Amino acid sequence: MDHVRVGLVGLGTVGTGVYKMLQENKDIITKKVGKEIRIEKILVRNKDKERDPEIPSELITFDPRDILENDDIDIVIEVMGSVDLAMDYIKRALSAKKQVITANKDLIALHEEELSELAHQNGRDLYFEASVAGGIPIIGTLKEDLAGNKIRKIMGIINGTTNYILTRMTKEGKSYEDVLKDAVALGYAESDPTADVEGLDAARKIAILGTIAFDTKITFNDVYVEGITKITKDDIKYADELGYVVKLLGIGMNVDDKAEARVHPVFIPKDHPLAAVNDVFNAIFVEGNAVGETMFYGRGAGELPTASAVIGDLMKATRDFINDTMGSSYRKIVKRKEIKDISE
Ligand code: NDP
Ligand code: HSE
Repeated sequence: MDHVRVGLVGLGTVGTGVYKMLQENKDIITKKVGKEIRIEKILVRNKDKERDPEIPSELITFDPRDILENDDIDIVIEVMGSVDLAMDYIKRALSAKKQVITANKDLIALHEEELSELAHQNGRDLYFEASVAGGIPIIGTLKEDLAGNKIRKIMGIINGTTNYILTRMTKEGKSYEDVLKDAVALGYAESDPTADVEGLDAARKIAILGTIAFDTKITFNDVYVEGITKITKDDIKYADELGYVVKLLGIGMNVDDKAEARVHPVFIPKDHPLAAVNDVFNAIFVEGNAVGETMFYGRGAGELPTASAVIGDLMKATRDFINDTMGSSYRKIVKRKEIKDISE
């Protein structure tokens, strides 16, 4: 095997970002995983859509079997969206013993346990870092780096679209309908932006984070949800006069081994660190019994920030795949560049 073969399911905002980043950073990615990663097929739906001329047309397919049941594909990246169809595709890919990466929080917030179990039955893994907070590596952090902590609380701005809307309502006095159009055009919003403004997207994300952090099963249906559709320009103005900003927060608490999760708009004092998180940026506070308070900050949506999380998963999935197929004797040795002169 001279290279690792990837099937990309979806070529919208995130899929395009994944393709671009893999081309742009090919050298560094190849060096770090020890094999070239190549996209061999890309599944899309619309036959009339004009595609980026940089993407070779022979990669495009309209038949899912070219990826899911293709023995020449090792890893599948699902960045198509939806629940039922994506569930079917991911199950088929895992059953065919492919590693699977997804950015699909709608699906993960409902069926992560079932899909991870299917992956393990097939000796594979399911990777979903991009499903929460775009480019912020929060899932890996909770699963690995903070895994030894008892997590008491997670609280954060985890929807880029609503934070972008609330920021512009605050700074420019616009209504949320006016700004929503821009969030859609920038590729931040979901294909149905109701999921963003009604708080459903944030609810899916806090369910995913709470499940990992509290080691208990929280699904989307367990989360109390209230979005920003009832927030008016006057609410923002009065908040401002009283020394607050309005933010949509996802909050997960674990008290005496009882977990709860909710999403709703909150008045935040202007001097609180979350008040300074603006535009499409997300930020997540995590409080663990050993680490204390930590905060993670970055772009929560958009083409390349989300691609960054998918590519991180792709590199992990590739290393795991190589270890599985070449045996545990495989060890990647990275030869680092020598710095000639750091004094300049
Ligand atoms: P887009 O709507 O931009 O792209 C969806 C892609 O999937 C398109 O290429 C579309 O094909 C393809 N597709 C849709 N339905 C089908 C189908 N039935 N068969 C084959 N192909 C299909 O979505 P995004 O890239 O914004 O989002 C993708 C996923 O990533 C979603 O789960 C989303 O929640 C998640 N996500 C998005 C983020 C963002 O910032 N946008 C951030 C984090 C996660 P065609 O090109 O032909 O229309
Ligand atoms: N629509 C989502 C958001 C995309 O605005 O945060 C990133 O998950």
